[in-house]
Amino acid sequence: MENFTHCIPTEYHFGKGAIDCLGDCLARYGSRVLLVYGGGSIKRTGLYDTIIGICNDKALTVTELSGVEPNPQIATVRKGIALCHSESIDVILSVGGGSTIDCCKAIAAGYYYKGDPWDMALAGGCQDRSLPLVDVMTLAATGSEFDADAVISNSMTSQKLDGTYRCPDVSICDPTYTFSVPASQTAAGSADIMSHICEQYFSRVFDSDLSEAIGEGILRSVIKNLPQALSDPSDYSARANLMWDSSIACSGIPAYGKIPTLWPCHAMEHELSGFYNITHGVGLAILTPRWMRFILKKDTSVTPRFVKFARNVWGLDGNDDEALAREGIEALEDFFSSVNLPSTLTELGIGNEHFLDMANDLKEVTGGLENDYVPLTIDDIVAIYTACL
Ligand code: NZQ
Ligand code: ZN
Repeated sequence: MENFTHCIPTEYHFGKGAIDCLGDCLARYGSRVLLVYGGGSIKRTGLYDTIIGICNDKALTVTELSGVEPNPQIATVRKGIALCHSESIDVILSVGGGSTIDCCKAIAAGYYYKGDPWDMALAGGCQDRSLPLVDVMTLAATGSEFDADAVISNSMTSQKLDGTYRCPDVSICDPTYTFSVPASQTAAGSADIMSHICEQYFSRVFDSDLSEAIGEGILRSVIKNLPQALSDPSDYSARANLMWDSSIACSGIPAYGKIPTLWPCHAMEHELSGFYNITHGVGLAILTPRWMRFILKKDTSVTPRFVKFARNVWGLDGNDDEALAREGIEALEDFFSSVNLPSTLTELGIGNEHFLDMANDLKEVTGGLENDYVPLTIDDIVAIYTACL
């Protein structure tokens, strides 16, 4: 079992009615609030009115930044920083999914950053100092409510950069706010949760018992609860489980005591959505089984891990380890198909024209994957993309 450090300073409120604490949480940081949200889902669900009511009751002054894009853009981060300065903002309130929170993390750090926020993103983020950040989460997917990451895109350069910022100060996760998430986004968010676990579960360290069990437990929970949430979008138990799964999956906890991968599927997906602006979880659902098949073929010493995945996650059994390893990957692929996630890049209108550019860019941004769980070269990455067509 490897060493680890636990540090997630976020105050985390979970469950029906958790928003009751929002007014007090905001007021502890001051009276001037920047309310940030996406393309309007919070207005359609009534959550916007609830939030404005809470802010009015506390006599808070609200400035709004709306229209945060899925795959949030650096231009929106710049707008937010300018508003924080011009309106003397005390606290940022993010209401939405991972894109909105990520945009807010970059705004909060960018407020103090000396220079353009894209330079901050290119430098891998900034953890020095941030404006306080409170969020109300409306989608189970990224786990951004319980980690320090933010992924910011730049459509001018086709880049999408994962950086480390500061964790939110307060996260409010009421599963009822996810009842309105459309089926396609619910499935994509769940594929993202599963990928977060796979990026940590696939490790050569087997003796970190609790982390192993957390990873397998979250995967089994998504396999059980996603179909339930799709057949009844207002199933509280299903939505609540997916929400808590998502917060823990990306928190780092499932990797404690283990040597995780270098998150190759995420690195490859961020290139895809940087170039083609696709939904993050959809890209991961296509890439993950292809990555699995590729590394299993390239390095058969990882077979025991795939066997454990097949047995403990999918409940498969048998004496032939090679067959079992393959069947675990097929089970994951079949599960993604069963929830109507696209299974090829071709379906998304993506061809092979930028595969080499993406592989080279990935190497430049991440330093490459030569030291990964199964080391990957540029040619390997192109081969994995090609297998996704
Ligand atoms: O913009 P609105 O109108 O709010 O609609 C959003 C958006 O269209 C909609 N939505 C959200 N909550 C809803 C809802 N629609 C109805 N009812 C609700 N309750 O869903 C759409 C997608 O929202 P978005 O925030 O983009 O999705 P997600 O949470 O999956 O975030 C994706 C972004 O997070 C990054 C991804 O790369 C991508 O940029 N990631 C962030 C991570 C982190 N910070 O730790 C880790 C992840 O691996 C990921 O890379
Ligand atoms: Zn992800």
